[in-house]
Amino acid sequence: MKIPGLPQLVGELCLLIFFVVCPFSDENKEYFLALQKMIEEMAEKAGGPVVLIAHSMGNMYTLYFLNQQPQAWKDRYIKAFISLGSPWAGVAKTLRVLISGDNNRIPVISPLKIRSQQRSAVSTSWLLPYAHSWTKDQVLVQTPTTNYTVLDYQRLYKDIDFEDGWMMRQDTEPLVADLSPPGVAVHCLYGSGIPTQASFQYTDKFPDVEPTVVMSDGDGTVNLQSATQCGRWVGGQKQPVMLKELDGNEHVDMLLNFTTVAYIKDVLFSP
Ligand SMILES: *[C@@H]1O[C@H](CO)[C@@H](O)[C@H](O)[C@H]1NC(C)=O
Ligand SMILES: *[C@@H]1O[C@H](CO)[C@@H](O)[C@H](O)[C@H]1NC(C)=O
Repeated sequence: MKIPGLPQLVGELCLLIFFVVCPFSDENKEYFLALQKMIEEMAEKAGGPVVLIAHSMGNMYTLYFLNQQPQAWKDRYIKAFISLGSPWAGVAKTLRVLISGDNNRIPVISPLKIRSQQRSAVSTSWLLPYAHSWTKDQVLVQTPTTNYTVLDYQRLYKDIDFEDGWMMRQDTEPLVADLSPPGVAVHCLYGSGIPTQASFQYTDKFPDVEPTVVMSDGDGTVNLQSATQCGRWVGGQKQPVMLKELDGNEHVDMLLNFTTVAYIKDVLFSP
């Protein structure tokens, strides 16, 4: 994926910053080794530590990566981690994607036709809402016969006839589920004030029908209650953790937003 908002900035500072955006597989050993090597090389060339910038699911990769690195390595090579629009606790929309597909409002594409492809993406199951941030009282999916909460995924996968998905979830859930602090300075930026899919009501045609969608706060993709989970690191690690809510910023558009870009520049040029 290309990041449209920052070409000039990236050009100027290619030695200092590195974008982490969604490699599409959960078998990433080589990716992480290459990432480590690249950071080390960048830091040597630039004569100082590197700022990591991640967007969306790239933040989960970055957190996983940092959680695996020794503290001495992070102290030496990482100046800061700028996190943009991160789904720290998953996103509710993935439930709809798994159940009935989501055409992202492209009318010529039938959601049910792309559903099998979307189900096969392990990342969809990885990003189901997490029990550390959604309570067992919150009904995420409602049908005439059943209410599903964050504790009912095994049953949900069975009821939509996609039991492989439950294995995908079990495989990936532990990767960053404990949200261990990354152990580097964090700048956590996230959009809010945009209606964001929060729960889904299905008729008895479940799962082969479009749901009625209940909205709540977020950036249009990531629910606010997920984006703000970086807040749990405040005081939980030695390094500073800054949260910045960007009211009115949509999930992807935030990459083009002047306030966001100015903030990134400030971090890059700070001593
Ligand atoms: C599901 O939850 C709603 C409230 O959120 C409740 O009104 C409804 O009766 C519940 N349905 C079932 C089948 O338990
Ligand atoms: C950029 O973000 C700021 C802070 O959230 C917001 O006030 C402003 O309206 C945004 N600008 C655009 C052009 O969306």
